[in-house]
Amino acid sequence: MAPVSIDNAKCVLVIGATSGIGRALALAISSLPSHPTVIAAGRRQDRLKELQEKNLETLQIDVTADLGSLKQTVESLIVKYPNLDAVILSSGIQYMHDFKKDVDISQVIREINVNYLAVVSLISLFIPHFLKLSAEGRPSFIIPITSGLGLLPSPLVINYSASKAALRSFTTSLRKQLEDTKVNVLEIIPPLVESELHDEQGTTERLSKFWMPLDEYTKLTVDGLRKGDIHIAAGRAAEVLEKFEKGGLNGLF
Ligand SMILES: NC(=O)c1ccc[n+]([C@@H]2O[C@H](COP(=O)([O-])OP(=O)(O)OC[C@H]3O[C@@H](n4cnc5c(N)ncnc54)[C@H](OP(=O)(O)O)[C@@H]3O)[C@@H](O)[C@H]2O)c1
Repeated sequence: MAPVSIDNAKCVLVIGATSGIGRALALAISSLPSHPTVIAAGRRQDRLKELQEKNLETLQIDVTADLGSLKQTVESLIVKYPNLDAVILSSGIQYMHDFKKDVDISQVIREINVNYLAVVSLISLFIPHFLKLSAEGRPSFIIPITSGLGLLPSPLVINYSASKAALRSFTTSLRKQLEDTKVNVLEIIPPLVESELHDEQGTTERLSKFWMPLDEYTKLTVDGLRKGDIHIAAGRAAEVLEKFEKGGLNGLF
């Protein structure tokens, strides 16, 4: 039997598609032979307009909006796109914190809100629709983007690493909770990749010497999504994941 893969998806929402990994995945998925409808979402309207010109559907959303607004947005989206059967959650932010110094706790809270609480809230809002598809015998996909730093933390981005570890843990348990349904919970685990993520910290130039080029990363990730892999990791993140799995921890779950 062919694996259930992104090639089965009819309509894919990518949240956090105005730049970096999300944008690249949205464009690559819209060019798959299966030609799914792709909805690119994010806050920056100028970036969304540019994606509209590339024939993507778009949605303006701030994932930190209050739960009532998020619920309304998701419900309207499902009315407009009843075939929506995949959501990739790429929205994320990253700050450096040094707890020996004066830490801006509002940034810590913001990072947890965007990287963890908003993602979990959005997933919870899509699940009833995906369960309905499952009852009709149709597969669907929930695909959070975590990080290699969710497996092996970086002290430089101490809270970011913790937010991604939390999201990994949630994703792993959610997969278990939904295992008797047709809702497929995958996990994209990037290594350091070319993007705008580090711009705010002023580390982009230094990191650009080590990061994986976005084109190379996108190809590997789309290949993993098409193969139907559960964990779609690349580069250093794939190495760390392999060591983690060799330790047998996944076998315990
Ligand atoms: N690049 C890396 O090295 C790396 C490594 C591991 C994991 N990741 C993860 O990969 C994902 C994508 O990151 P990236 O590297 O592509 O970074 P990026 O280029 O900075 O993209 C981040 C995306 O998140 C969106 N976003 C941020 N805050 C948002 C909000 N409040 N509401 C809605 N959208 C929001 C941004 O859109 P707007 O600003 O338009 O809203 C943008 O589209 C993130 O989850 C990141 O943690 C990245």
